[in-house]
Amino acid sequence: MQLQRVLNRVYSEKRPRIEDLEFLLSLKTPDKRDALFDFADRVRETHMGRGILLRGIVEFSNHCRNTCRYCGLNRFQDGLERFRMTRDEVLACVRNIDEAGIKTVVLQSGEDPECDSGWLAELVFDIKEHFSGAVTLSVGEWTAEEYDLWRRAGADRYLLKIETTNPKLYRDLHPGMDHNFRLACLETLASLDYQTGSGSIVGIKGQSVRDLAKDILYFSESEFSMLGIGPFIPHSGTDMGRELPGGMDLALKMLAVARIVTKNTHLPATTALGSQSGSSAWKAALKAGANVIMPNFTPAPYRRGYDIYPGRDRVAESPKSCVAVVESMARSIRRTVDFCRGDSLKMNKRVFQADAGPFYFRKKSQGGDTIV
Ligand code: 5AD
Repeated sequence: MQLQRVLNRVYSEKRPRIEDLEFLLSLKTPDKRDALFDFADRVRETHMGRGILLRGIVEFSNHCRNTCRYCGLNRFQDGLERFRMTRDEVLACVRNIDEAGIKTVVLQSGEDPECDSGWLAELVFDIKEHFSGAVTLSVGEWTAEEYDLWRRAGADRYLLKIETTNPKLYRDLHPGMDHNFRLACLETLASLDYQTGSGSIVGIKGQSVRDLAKDILYFSESEFSMLGIGPFIPHSGTDMGRELPGGMDLALKMLAVARIVTKNTHLPATTALGSQSGSSAWKAALKAGANVIMPNFTPAPYRRGYDIYPGRDRVAESPKSCVAVVESMARSIRRTVDFCRGDSLKMNKRVFQADAGPFYFRKKSQGGDTIV
């Protein structure tokens, strides 16, 4: 049968054929889609095991200088109440994450024009002093010096989605932004030895199946540690508010193909997926290749302000109950929650040295030098 042949080929060839990827992403009938998801599920089992890793997200600022046409935080959203959490507020969220037994904190924000890189470095350093887990930053495009500073302060990982590898579509979706600079940021991050994650928006206007297949090729060549793949969700406050949504189906196929091609990459059941149909979408993602869930630990008063796209409250469990919710979901699909750090499986160099401290860094507040 052609489908099985293509699945085996995509799994086993070093560089998959673009026509094969397009074929899989275009599967229409439910039985064929299920065969794709089952195959991806088996690849996940072989390369990642049955554990579902947890990452606690803190969305600490919704200020953004960017113009991404699909995003509810873009700088043209005049009606949006902007917030920026204090250091102590962030540390309180980290304590909640720690108490829940989760060993990764993801600090996420818009590209806050007032982000003080020294402030963020000190925050990372403070977190790492008290929290034994990993810190992931997801704060957008900055200079190599800033990425280096945060890395030396102790940040372990960085997420920066390429969104699309089609330069023309990228330009159209992100007026004034530079696709080459984004690619360069991803290279810089990898060269600084961050466990680097990327990903794309799926099913956005102007994106072809071939574009998605090319995203997969780029992901596979770049050896990312993690990939966030989620459907486009129209936000009524943006100028793309009337466009068609990307759709669960296409996003799940993209996730499954990413699993089959990239094998041991961490793939979360993204918030965007969950925002479409709550935990049933997360479950579907976990059965189509995903191995990570990222519960949100942003305090309730700020969650509303982090209005990237609608429906995010569908997956908003309270910090106290989120782990129990994921555990029961895991049980229902005969999986388990894995409370380890879940480091990258792509590079086995220094990232696994749990006590490799930020030895270059001395804290201002301790009367030492500034960051050197
Ligand atoms: N639909 C889906 N994903 C979106 N993002 C932002 N806006 C939307 C939207 N309307 C995603 C982008 C970004 C991440 C923070 O959220 O991929 O990288």
